[in-house]
Amino acid sequence: MEKIVLNFDNMKVEDSQIAEIEGKIADAIQSMESKRGEMAWRDLPYNQDAVINEILDYVAEKSPKVNALVVLGIGGSALGPIALQQALNSQFYNHDTQLRGGYPRLFVLDNIDPATMSDLLAVLDLETTLFSVVSKSGATSETMAQFMVVKDLLESHLGLKAPEHIVCTTDAKNGNLIKIAGAEGYKTFYVPDGVGGRFSQLCPVGLLPAAFCGIDIKALLAGAAEMDKMCQNADYMNNPAYAFAILHYLAMKQNKNITVMMPYSDKLKFMADWFAQLWGESLGKQGMGQTPVKALGTTDQHSQVQLYVDGPDDKIVVFLGADDFGSELQIPKTFDDMPSIGFLGGHTMGELLRASQKATEYALTKAGRSNMTITLPSVTENTMGQLFYMLEVATAFAGELMGINAFDQPGVEEGKNAVYRHFGRPGF
Ligand code: PA5
Repeated sequence: MEKIVLNFDNMKVEDSQIAEIEGKIADAIQSMESKRGEMAWRDLPYNQDAVINEILDYVAEKSPKVNALVVLGIGGSALGPIALQQALNSQFYNHDTQLRGGYPRLFVLDNIDPATMSDLLAVLDLETTLFSVVSKSGATSETMAQFMVVKDLLESHLGLKAPEHIVCTTDAKNGNLIKIAGAEGYKTFYVPDGVGGRFSQLCPVGLLPAAFCGIDIKALLAGAAEMDKMCQNADYMNNPAYAFAILHYLAMKQNKNITVMMPYSDKLKFMADWFAQLWGESLGKQGMGQTPVKALGTTDQHSQVQLYVDGPDDKIVVFLGADDFGSELQIPKTFDDMPSIGFLGGHTMGELLRASQKATEYALTKAGRSNMTITLPSVTENTMGQLFYMLEVATAFAGELMGINAFDQPGVEEGKNAVYRHFGRPGF
């Protein structure tokens, strides 16, 4: 089994600083254990055999008839599926039938800009499109508005066949979507109780679109289960999630109020978006939190790294790298007579990308700036399962250290309610 590897050597934290919060760490470990039953997302690697089979059967039935799967969802309903698809399938998956091996194209509509939605609807063949409506609450204005547009369109074009083109993932009991799905006869999957939006990647919210894109969802969950074992290590600095959280917590105490996630692999690019929501929405409470920033190596070396190395010392950088990029390209020895570029010849693009990450780590460390690395031996279902799970446990543990509830989002609800008020929704 390949294990993801975390390296904290470049974090500017003294052992004495860790010793100072030992009591807090012990309490947080105890809370994680006693609250495990409430954190239903922690058991997702183990208790979904029936739903996995249901998803695989549904995908097998639908795939031959479906040329495009369109996810309608936002926040936790969209960011995980986007990150996983980017990590495990070709960047040009949607462009090539052979690359897809019989699976549909994937589109995730996670915004309500009418121009984007109109552009997408204009190029879809409704006869061969399946819309997956994903909303735990069944009330989010963005997703419900998209759904209403699509339902209307499907009914006017396909009449009685419209319901076959809609699948819902929502709470089993609460909200409008489950009521509508029941009344209209839509195929439905459920977000289990105790699994909030940003912790839902390993339930049908993430598993359904993944399976539709040929991703091995059993291997994804197996990776998460392996990480769960590593995350039960009471030796906290050897527990990847606990150590990640403790070092971030201490960084916050040093007024490093920004955490930059900087993947050095295009496959891992959207993990930074997924993590930004997880860390920001879970921990940004009661005047505390750390602003997550997304960057990409090497692209942002030529944009933001000057600031990270030489600007205010208010951030830590989390590098996300891969030992194996999945493909390799040799750089030819074309310009041997020009030393200033000729040195590149004979090396590979992967070597250059890895060396660039090391160089940025070096520059930051030399400037006294805290940074850490997470390395995937290769980007597979198993290592992605490990990564999602590790970051979820780290976020929950950071919440315990900070003494806040990592699982609510009162600030987001306030905004949702303000939209309801603006449109005159009864009761708001
Ligand atoms: O993490 C969360 O709970 C939120 O970001 C939600 O995912 C987002 O607001 C969408 O909510 P819902 O799934 O209820 O439509």
